[in-house]
Amino acid sequence: MIVLILVVLTIYLLINKWMKKKSDSLRCLMGKTAIVTGGNSGAGYGIATLLASRGCKVIIADCVNGENSRDEIIRKTQNPNVSYKYVDLSSLKTVREFCEGIKISEKKIDILINNAAIGLSTNKMTADGLNHVMQVNFFGAFLLTHLLLEPLKNADGARVIFVSSATALLHNLRMENLNLTDYPHTVSYIKQFYANSKLCNIMAARVFAKRLKKYGITAYSVDPLLVGSQLFRKFFEFVVEKLWKICMMVCMNEVEAAETYLHLASSEKLDNSSGGHYAACSKMFIPRILKNEQFCEEIWDETEKLVKLEPEERL
Ligand SMILES: *[C@@H]1O[C@H](CO)[C@@H](O)[C@H](O)[C@H]1NC(C)=O
Ligand SMILES: *[C@@H]1O[C@H](CO)[C@@H](O)[C@H](O)[C@H]1NC(C)=O
Ligand SMILES: *[C@@H]1O[C@H](CO)[C@@H](O)[C@H](O)[C@H]1NC(C)=O
Repeated sequence: MIVLILVVLTIYLLINKWMKKKSDSLRCLMGKTAIVTGGNSGAGYGIATLLASRGCKVIIADCVNGENSRDEIIRKTQNPNVSYKYVDLSSLKTVREFCEGIKISEKKIDILINNAAIGLSTNKMTADGLNHVMQVNFFGAFLLTHLLLEPLKNADGARVIFVSSATALLHNLRMENLNLTDYPHTVSYIKQFYANSKLCNIMAARVFAKRLKKYGITAYSVDPLLVGSQLFRKFFEFVVEKLWKICMMVCMNEVEAAETYLHLASSEKLDNSSGGHYAACSKMFIPRILKNEQFCEEIWDETEKLVKLEPEERL
C-alpha cells in the first residue's frame, strides 16, 4: 500500500514538474509590441502579464470589458504600456474594424497571440452564417492574422502563435463539417467543434509558417495544458466540486500556463524554426491528419472563402 502511494505520488510530481516547465528565454522585450486576443482571462491573461513584465507593450484584445485586467496587469508589472481594445472574434466585421484600428495606431506588431476561445455555446450560427465555436476559435484568428500582415511585416522577425489543446486529437474534421450550422444541439456535438477548431489552429500555424517565411515571420501552435482554465471551471464545479479543488492543486495557474507562450514569443532558440507545435516548452507530435498537406490546403482554401477574404488579402 505504501509503495503504491509512493509510486502515485512520484508520478504526480513528475507530471506536475513537466507541465510547469519554465521557458529558459531571458530576452528583454522592451521596444516590442504584442497583441493577445482573449487576454482578459485564463492563459491569455497570463501571457499578457508575462509579456508586460518583460517590458513589452501589450494590447489586450477581447470582447468583454478588459479595463480591469489592464489595470491589474499595470499594477502587478509596473509597466504602463498595457491597453485594451475591443474585438469580437465571432464577428468578421469587428475583426476588420479592430485590424483597421491597429494599422492606424501601431506601425509594427512583433508578437500576435491568437488565444481567444470559447468552450460551449448556446448559439449555433453567428451573424456571418458560420458555426459559432469554429468562428471564435479559428475563423476569427485566421482572418485577423491575414489582416495584420502589414504591421507583422514591419517588425523584425514577428512571431504568430495559435493556441490549440490536446483535445485536437479527438477531432473529426472533414470538409463537410468545417462550417456546420445545422446539427443536434448536444454537448457531444459542441465538444466536437471545440476539438476541430483546436486542430485547425495547429494546421494554421503550419501553413502560415510556410506562407509567411518569405517575410521573416514565424508561426507556432501551443497547447497550454491548462486543464484548470476558466473555460472548464464552471463545468467541473458543477459536476464534481471536491474534485475541482484537487484539480486546482494539480493544475497550473494562469501565469504558469503561459510559460510556453512566452517561450514561443521570445526564445532565441526558435529564431530559425517555424511551424512547430509545443507544450511544456518542448516540441510535441501533431495529429496525423495534419501531415496530409493536401487536406490542410483544402481546409485553408475553404476557410478563405468562409471568412470572405478578398483576393488581394490572400497569402
Ligand atoms: C511603450 O512601448 C513602445 C513599443 O514597445 C515603446 O516604444 C515605448 O517607449 C513604450 N512606452 C513606455 C512608456 O514604456
Ligand atoms: C455555413 O453553413 C450554413 C449551412 O450549414 C450555411 O447556411 C452558411 O451560409 C454557411 N456559411 C458560409 C459563410 O458559407
Ligand atoms: C539562425 O540563423 C542565423 C543565420 O543563418 C544564425 O546566425 C543563427 O546562429 C541561427 N540561430 C540559431 C538559434 O540557430
